[in-house]
Amino acid sequence: MAKEREKKLFVGILGNYASELKLLLTTLLLLCAVATFLQFIPSRFTISASDLRFCISRVQSSPPPPSLSPPLTTTSSSSVSHLSTVEQDKILENGIIKRAFNPYGSAAYNFITMGAYRGGLNTFAIIGLASKPLHLYSKPTYECQWLSSSPPHTPITTVGYKILPDWGYGRVYTVVIVNCTFSTPVNAGNTGGKLVLRASTSGGGDTNFNITDTIDVLNESPNSLDLSVFTSPPKYDYFYCGSSLYGNLNPQRVREWIAYHVKFFGPKSHFVIHDAGGVHEQVLEVLKPWMELGYVTLQNIRDQERFDGYYHNQFMVVNDCLHRYKFMAKWMFFFDVDEYIYVPPKSTIKSVLDSLSEYSQFTIEQMPMSSKICLSSDYGKTYR
Ligand SMILES: *[C@@H]1O[C@H](CO)[C@@H](O)[C@H](O)[C@H]1NC(C)=O
Ligand SMILES: *[C@@H]1O[C@H](CO)[C@@H](O)[C@H](O)[C@H]1NC(C)=O
Repeated sequence: MAKEREKKLFVGILGNYASELKLLLTTLLLLCAVATFLQFIPSRFTISASDLRFCISRVQSSPPPPSLSPPLTTTSSSSVSHLSTVEQDKILENGIIKRAFNPYGSAAYNFITMGAYRGGLNTFAIIGLASKPLHLYSKPTYECQWLSSSPPHTPITTVGYKILPDWGYGRVYTVVIVNCTFSTPVNAGNTGGKLVLRASTSGGGDTNFNITDTIDVLNESPNSLDLSVFTSPPKYDYFYCGSSLYGNLNPQRVREWIAYHVKFFGPKSHFVIHDAGGVHEQVLEVLKPWMELGYVTLQNIRDQERFDGYYHNQFMVVNDCLHRYKFMAKWMFFFDVDEYIYVPPKSTIKSVLDSLSEYSQFTIEQMPMSSKICLSSDYGKTYR
């Protein structure tokens, strides 16, 4: 599967590259066509270079042209509020012109939260995305604070340890898990409080530009904390966390997959399916009966598409599922809907896992399936 993924990724990059190239070529072609066309129109219709510049500058809505004389350095108190944050160039006392740089928008956010979960009395995991270049070229740091809703309100602070689980495959964003472990239990009295993440960029190589965002990641209202989940036996034996589903999924194949695995894992199992656009109407129809029976939880994660990561942010999604549900199950499974779990005929999933009870983790050997086991009578009847 990993190999296939790499291949897919490679193809994906080629594909994107090709489409960008196409756009570029189309644009060039169009410009050339305009240029060619211009030669044939009567001279009184010719557009001068200055006209073109005018039209281009309107399209770009360019900033005011540079001027040799310095602009105003004072900001009037009556100026509109959004203008008051704009820095102006200044002439310093020593005659040096100090240029201003005004940033707009944000190409990649400092941090995007998906979820924050308790792992016990004093420990939390925050699951999210962060700017990948920030993590590659800077040293962003994290600090966690617990603010109690009851006095004393002095925050308890701890270092947030970051874990980057996505194998470096992300592009604009990378998955970040921040582990916040306090030296003492927090909210043990169940009076409520909140977990705050302080995410610092640590600047572009200069510690003078260290921007810190303060983010409320988890709120616990009074009496809402149920500590028994950490100690009581889990509700399910087997828990499936699915990767982001996207694209034109075949509902017949999904029906087959879920029926097979509900039968395989049995009544004490549960499946979390993440819809990144792949659960279209017919796939939903196939999943609905299983949702009604309580086997399937469907999560709509389509909004993560705004943040370009690896494979519809699948590493964030499965880590969120792990931390969100880990106290509900003895074993959690992470595999794809084009993969089927199989145990040799004389064993069962229970007997296999009982033999692994001393371990906290195992991997599953992968075998390619032969297309010869597919029903040939179906061939050509399905359109997906
Ligand atoms: C955070 O890390 C500590 C130390 O490895 C671990 O014991 C704890 O379970 C982690 N917390 C969470 C919520 O995963
Ligand atoms: C940036 O600020 C944070 C929070 O104040 C601090 O912990 C961190 O060390 C700073 N980073 C640098 C590079 O100074």
